[in-house]
Amino acid sequence: MALTLVTGGTGHLGRDIVDRLVRDGHRVRLFARARGTQSDVEWAIGDLATGAGLRDALRDVDTVINAATYSPIARRGGVRPVDFFKSPSAVDVEGTERLLSLCQEQSVRHFLHVSIVGLDEATLPYARVKLAGERLVRASALSWSVVRATPFYYLLDKMLAGLAWLPVWPMPTTSFNPVDTIDVADHVVACAFDGTRGKRAEIGGPQDLSVAALAGQYRDARGKILPIPMSGTKARGMGFVVSQGVRGRLAWADWLQRQYADARYVA
Ligand SMILES: NC(=O)c1ccc[n+]([C@@H]2O[C@H](COP(=O)([O-])OP(=O)(O)OC[C@H]3O[C@@H](n4cnc5c(N)ncnc54)[C@H](OP(=O)(O)O)[C@@H]3O)[C@@H](O)[C@H]2O)c1
Repeated sequence: MALTLVTGGTGHLGRDIVDRLVRDGHRVRLFARARGTQSDVEWAIGDLATGAGLRDALRDVDTVINAATYSPIARRGGVRPVDFFKSPSAVDVEGTERLLSLCQEQSVRHFLHVSIVGLDEATLPYARVKLAGERLVRASALSWSVVRATPFYYLLDKMLAGLAWLPVWPMPTTSFNPVDTIDVADHVVACAFDGTRGKRAEIGGPQDLSVAALAGQYRDARGKILPIPMSGTKARGMGFVVSQGVRGRLAWADWLQRQYADARYVA
């Protein structure tokens, strides 16, 4: 049976991609820094930042889904001043380059790379790192696909939780359409095996919401949101983009309800 390698398969999106693949009957190998407990997949241990274990991980692989990333902002769930100046590139740029080169050596038939909607106008160093990684994929001689997604609900949840101590939340009034990782995983897996290649339809969530409205849904009646008007260019620079491609199904309010069943959210 054809073998699919998933990098970042222990991450938020990666876990949903692996679940989808397994449910669809694919043979799956996870490339991870540490072995997990899931027993219906193969595990290949290594590190994208150093290249350790990569060659072995790619043995007999037909399709690679590259969902690994190293985002300090996502890891800690908040932005620090340093994030406006630099972001490490060892995984997303050098790691992607290394992976592409070994995939070519080992004649991988399809390389699907996960990326972010609106990167071309985004200004944060992490976004620039992601764009550099995506460009390497697009320039490669491999048969490739790039799937871009809008920000994930889990990340917004983490970021908003970090604001809990503020009595009033300053929030941009600009709109975007964040998305659930399960919807993204379904789209990514469909794109991996539909025989098409290249820049694929980007994916975002079902609703266009202002950040202020989104935070309002998140926060219960104790808090206040302070809407901040923002120019379109500045908003896009920060990654607030309404995607033009396919739409996921799960709405932010429904995701919140699923996550925090007994909390009160204003729709
Ligand atoms: N988060 C968002 O809002 C968002 C929006 C659009 C697109 N995306 C893209 O979607 C993809 C997945 O994002 P995510 O938020 O699901 O990521 P995540 O939860 O932070 O997971 C990142 C994954 O990358 C792995 N990884 C990190 N450093 C590694 C290394 N040196 N070697 C091997 N693996 C390494 C992590 O493994 P460990 O478990 O070992 O750390 C983890 O499995 C990324 O391409 C991201 O840019 C994210």
